[in-house]
Amino acid sequence: MLSQYLSLNLQQQLSEISEHGFSIMDNFISPANILALADEINTLNANSHMQIANTGRSPISINTQLRGDSIYWLNEVEASPAQQAYFKKMEDLRCGLNQHLYLGLFSLESHLALYPIGAGYQKHLDCFQFKGGEQLPKRQISCILYLNQDWLAEDGGYLRLHLNAHERARLNLKESYLDIAPISGRLVLFLSDTFYHEVLATTRIRKSLTSWFLTR
Ligand code: OGA
Ligand code: MN
Repeated sequence: MLSQYLSLNLQQQLSEISEHGFSIMDNFISPANILALADEINTLNANSHMQIANTGRSPISINTQLRGDSIYWLNEVEASPAQQAYFKKMEDLRCGLNQHLYLGLFSLESHLALYPIGAGYQKHLDCFQFKGGEQLPKRQISCILYLNQDWLAEDGGYLRLHLNAHERARLNLKESYLDIAPISGRLVLFLSDTFYHEVLATTRIRKSLTSWFLTR
C-alpha cells in the first residue's frame, strides 16, 4: 500500500500534497546525516537538554498521558552540519510548495523529538491558530523526518494518519487511517489543519525531527 509513495521525487511529492494533502517519501536525506541527527538526540538526552513536551494549550500544560515525548527546538543560525543539510532540503521544499500551491510559506519551526519506551501522542491536529487572543503565524504543513535504524513492525510507534472517506476509498483501505512506520530517512508531510494524527505507543526509543512550515 505504502510502496506507491516511497520513491517520490520533489515534483511528485508536491503533486501528492496538492492533490491529496499528504505525502510520504523515503530517503529524504543521506543515511550519514540521519545517523548524525539521531546521535545529536542521544547527546542532548544524555546531557539533559531534551525537554518534556507541553501540549500546546495555554497556560503551558504538561500531560504525559496525552503526549510522552521530549523535544529540543532547533535554531537555524546555530545548525550543525547535519541540521544544515536538512534545512537546505526543507528550503527547496518550501520554494517548491510556494510555487506549486501558492501557500505563502515563510518560515520553519523545528524540533528534535525523542519518545521513550511506552510513550505516544494522542490523536490531535497540529494547528492552533490563537493563543491568548493574539494571532500567531499559522502552522500550514507538518513535516516529520524519522531517524530510527532497523525499525521493526513490533516496535510500534506508528504515525497513525486519519483520512477522510475519499482518501480511504482511493487507497482502498479497510480502516479510516494509514499507519506509517517511523523508519530512518522517511519524511511524512501533511496539511496541519486537516489531518488528525497520533503516535501509537512505541516499544523502542523513537527519534524524529519535526518541522512546521508557517504562514503569516
Ligand atoms: C507532533 C507529531 C508525529 C510523529 O510532533 O506533533 O504529531 O510521528 N508527531 O512523530
Ligand atoms: Mn502532531
